[in-house]
Order: sequence, then C-alpha cells, then structure tokens
Amino acid sequence: MRQQTAVSPEAMARQREYMARVREMEDRPRSYHIVSMGCQMNARDSETIAGMLEEMGLTREAVRERADLILYNTCCVRENAENKALGNVIWLKELKRDKPELMICVGGCMTQEPGMAAAMKAKYPFIDLIYGTHNLYRLPEYVYRFLMERAPVVEVLDIDGEVVEGLPERRESVHSAFVNIMYGCDNFCSYCIVPYVRGRERSREPEDVIAEVKRLMDAGTQEITLLGQNVNSYRGGGAEFANLLRRLDRLGVPRIRFMTSHPKDLSDELIACYGELEHLMPNLHLPVQAGNDEILRQMNRRYTRERYLDLVRRLRAVRPEIGLTSDIIVGFPGETEAQFEDTLSLAREVRFDAAYTFVYSPRRGTRAASMPDPVSAGEKSRWIQRLIALQQEISFETLSAQVGRVERVLVEGASARDAGSVGGRTPRNHMVNFPGGEELVGKFVDVEITSAGKNTLRGRIV
Ligand code: 5AD
Ligand code: SF4
Repeated sequence: MRQQTAVSPEAMARQREYMARVREMEDRPRSYHIVSMGCQMNARDSETIAGMLEEMGLTREAVRERADLILYNTCCVRENAENKALGNVIWLKELKRDKPELMICVGGCMTQEPGMAAAMKAKYPFIDLIYGTHNLYRLPEYVYRFLMERAPVVEVLDIDGEVVEGLPERRESVHSAFVNIMYGCDNFCSYCIVPYVRGRERSREPEDVIAEVKRLMDAGTQEITLLGQNVNSYRGGGAEFANLLRRLDRLGVPRIRFMTSHPKDLSDELIACYGELEHLMPNLHLPVQAGNDEILRQMNRRYTRERYLDLVRRLRAVRPEIGLTSDIIVGFPGETEAQFEDTLSLAREVRFDAAYTFVYSPRRGTRAASMPDPVSAGEKSRWIQRLIALQQEISFETLSAQVGRVERVLVEGASARDAGSVGGRTPRNHMVNFPGGEELVGKFVDVEITSAGKNTLRGRIV
C-alpha cells in the first residue's frame, strides 16, 4: 500500500471559506434532502455531506419533494443499484419542471465510473452538480460555483490516495456511530467495480481515529462500527488492524464492531482479539462469495474453501458464541450447477447468522465482465432462490436457539412495526423488538428473548 497524503490544511481552509460564503448568499437553497444508496461507506459519506450542507446554512428536509437541494449519493456495485439511481434522476426532471429553482446534485460511486459523468451531463442537462468519490470534500466549492454561475458543474477526479480529516458532519445516530478507518480497495476481485471507483487503499492515522472515537464517546456514543472496504489491510501509522482494535478497546467504548473483512487477510492477531478484547462484539461479517475453489480462483479471492472453513473453526474456537454473516454471489460467469452446489454446502456447513445473496451482475471494466457467461438469468434466479430458502431456514433456526436467553441490548429506536415497542441489537448483532418507550433509545437494557421471527427476535425487559 502506498503512503497516503492528507488534503492540506490550506485546501481545507478554502472549503471552509466556501461554506461561509454560501451561507451568506441571499438566493441559496434553504433546505436539503440526501438520498443515500449502497453501503455503509456511502452512509458515512452522506453524514459528511449533510454536515457540509448544514455548515452552508441549509436545514435538513425529510420530504424529498419539499427540499431546495436534492443530492443523490450513488452506488454502482451492481447494475440494479445504477438503474435505481438513474431512474430517480429521470424522476427529478419532472420535479424540476414544477420547481425550477431546485438544485440537483449527483455524486458517489456511479458518477466516478469512467465516462459516466460526461454521459450523464449530455443526457441529463438538468443536473446542476456532478462530482465523484475523490472530490467529495470540495462540495462547498462546487455549490458556491453553481450558485454564482448558475451553470452545471461537472467535476470528477482520477486522483485518489488522499485522506481528508476535519470535515463537518451530521451523524444519523450518536449512540451507534460509523467510523471510517480506511478508504479504497486494492484487491481487484474480478467481478468488483469498487477498486475502480473508490481508488487505492489508504488508511487514516490511528491518532485521528482515536481522537474521533474519544469525541464520540464524550457525546454519548455506545457503539462504534469501524468501516473500510477491507479493514484487515488497515496499516495506519504502519501498524496492523488488530493493533488499532486493541487501542480502541482500551478506551472503553462499550461496543466495537467493524466491516468488511477479507478472509485472505484475517490475521492470527485479529482472531486472537476475539478471545481477548472485552468490547469487541461477537459478530463478524466475513464475505465468502462462493464455496467452490475454482470459482474462488476465478473471482481472484485468493483463499480456498478449506482455508475459509478453517478461519471459521478458529474464530469459533476463541469465541464460541460468535455470529458470522456473509456476502454470496450466485451465477459468476461460467459457474456450473455443481459448483453452485458447493456454495450451498458451504452455507450448510458454516451456518451463517445471515447472508446477503446477489446474482452476479457484470460491471464494465472488470475482468469478469469479459468472461463467457452461458447460464441463463432464469437458471441463476432458480439457484439463488435455493440458496435464499436454505439460508432462511438456517437463520430461523439460529434465531430460535436464542429464545430463553437474556441478552444485553443497545436500544436503537422505535420499532418500525409495533407501536409502543423499541428495537435494538444483542452483542451478536441480532435485532430484538420489545415493549418499551423511546426514552430507552441509546441505553442498554437486559431483554429476555421470547420468540424468533424470520429475521428478528422478540423479547421483554427483565
Ligand atoms: N455482482 C454481484 N454482486 C457483487 N458484489 C460485488 N460486486 C458484485 C457484482 N458484480 C457483492 C459482493 C460484495 C458485496 C458488497 O456486493 O458480494 O461483498
Ligand atoms: Fe470489491 Fe473484493 Fe475489494 Fe470487496 S475486497 S471491495 S469485493 S474488490
């Protein structure tokens, strides 16, 4: 991994200046609405975007149609994510017809794809601002430029390798917070577009991460989730990820989680952390992607089925109650039914708490996109249905095995389904709903698990 450079203090000061200037403008937008698509990294970026917009004097508007500025933070990991973003953009055209002063901004992973920004500019001239992933911190400058010139601003940079510190933020939740520790990915799994749109791996300095976590703890944060495309290759200050985890554990933040881990980089030290660290929660998202060695090889995952199973055994040896979750791709180019069945048997063997399953989606510029792919969409869809059915059975059995236990739950918010109930997570990251009032949000309560549903648990406070 190459040494990262930080954005200079002068460049940051300029952006602060732009925020102040926008704030002073008479005819600037007054409210904003962000649509955040895709993964947690994007969700975290959206918190930074919200922070910058609020610094520019805009207030958050929950109803999209009412906002003066709408920003789409896009994803492109699969084609349907892209279609969703583009579908939304077309709808915005109608909205802008009724409300010409509406400012429309589109950024994130989709606009960072080579050629995408230019194509969008030509096709959707009503978009006022298009930016990518590497220049998110320059949003204030772009908003200012648009307001001065009232002409579309389109800027996507190829350079990456910068780590940006000190941006404003408006967090979705103070109790449970995402903390970036690294950006980008160097793995180039053959199906994946992420390295092309998020750039090379670069880590934040451990001191910056620790300072952020300390600030969060002072503000009442009970749980942090460390974020990176592959946190296992974190090398901030030259030290490995386990080292950072140990330092954060010593700070005493009640709950620590992280995502995502690449199995090839899951070190012995990190496995040992699961047996030693008091605040590291017993759950791990460890995407396996496939259960067949030949497919794993073609995916460029650089581990075998046996190596993955060995990691699972070792994790369970140090932390028997650990809950594992995974990502699985079905129908990689050239995958045969027998190879797919190896994925089924792996899922049966590991017994994930939950698995996010995807039909392979070709992404332009990736290696897999040029591989022959003879299996029909209908066949792939039958395969994924078999996997989903199996996983549902396993998830339900896992949840059912929790019934009768008393679990410490960090309350997240009102339950979406039941009035008078709240929901929160157990250490193993199972969602539990139980009767209670919103005054419990952000607090720990002991809950007896009384029943299991398909994806969540029910319980009562004891
Ligand atoms: N097609 C289908 N799924 C994909 N993922 C990444 N790229 C693709 C693709 N081209 C999945 C992987 C990854 C998750 C975030 O998205 O399973 O772990
Ligand atoms: Fe994509 Fe692989 Fe990097 Fe994950 S590790 S972001 S799947 S290239």
